[in-house]
Amino acid sequence: MTTGVSPNSLESIEELRRKAESELANIVTPEDAEKFRLDWLSKKGIVREVFRKVSEAAPAERKERGREANELRDLAEAGLEQRLATLTGGADTEPSIDCTLPGYPLPRGSLHPLMTIRNSIRDIFIGMGFTIAYGPDIESDYYNFEALNFQPDHPARDMQDTFHIAEKVLLRTHTSPVQIRVMELQKPPIRTIMPGRVYRNEEISARSYCLFHQVEGLCVDEGVSFADLKGTLLAFSRAFFGDNARLKIRPSYFPFTEPSVEIDVECFLCGGAGCSICKQSGWLEILGCGMIHPNVLRSGGIDSEKYTGFAFGMGIERIALLKFGIDDIRLFFENDVRFLRQFS
Ligand code: PHE
Repeated sequence: MTTGVSPNSLESIEELRRKAESELANIVTPEDAEKFRLDWLSKKGIVREVFRKVSEAAPAERKERGREANELRDLAEAGLEQRLATLTGGADTEPSIDCTLPGYPLPRGSLHPLMTIRNSIRDIFIGMGFTIAYGPDIESDYYNFEALNFQPDHPARDMQDTFHIAEKVLLRTHTSPVQIRVMELQKPPIRTIMPGRVYRNEEISARSYCLFHQVEGLCVDEGVSFADLKGTLLAFSRAFFGDNARLKIRPSYFPFTEPSVEIDVECFLCGGAGCSICKQSGWLEILGCGMIHPNVLRSGGIDSEKYTGFAFGMGIERIALLKFGIDDIRLFFENDVRFLRQFS
């Protein structure tokens, strides 16, 4: 043991005492305590060495030296025991951190406005007994078009400018392909919503972007009628836009629904009087929907003689733009914190 201190004289034992005391005072971790034990109290430790020197001392000195050595050993043992008790939370624990100090402020994130809208749409449909399903962003031509009753060269494919990845592989242009995937896996009664990202090769502007989000809805059972479609979407609109929400149903066309309609909600900003958000019309277009085409039920492996159903698809950006009074869709994708912070 290299203490640099020889225990040959009374002075040096005194020095060892002071050294032991200061080392004991510096014990703050269990590792420190163990190091102290090894240095001072183990078989090769300082205390043993002191006793060995005492036994070699001249007989006249031996008694006094022995007393000093005993004191040193008692000090090291008792001191270590006391520090260990402190470390393990013994009676005389002194707090080593001040728990009363105020913490550092941590900046808190918040949900993206699109996710806030998606979550409230989702929660309303969950409240009506719908489940949730997801499908892949990269789709086959089969699920995105063919199974949804788009004929191979039908101009309806041009309604949705498609990003192709490879022959018959593409970025889905809508969430409707998930309808087929759900029908393949589940038997009626089916009540499911399918949120997700969709992609279209459109010119980017304040009104349209190359990707956006939709929530698809699907309901299949025996005897599902157009009245069920209307009732479900009216209940949704009242929950989302307010108890007085009124809907307008306009005929439309989608290959996968027949009849197909688009639904407008009375402008919640001007109450139908006409304003800049509704372009003075008093109405806001919010979704496309219709009764599922029998060909589509068959694509999903469902007996179209026995079952009927409705489907709808709404754009989350469109609803978010309206709800928050935002005039440029690109703001949702730039992730400028000055924009995002306004929604925290
Ligand atoms: N998929 C259609 C679109 O993206 C919306 C829609 C969904 C219409 C379901 C009818 C039924 O425009």
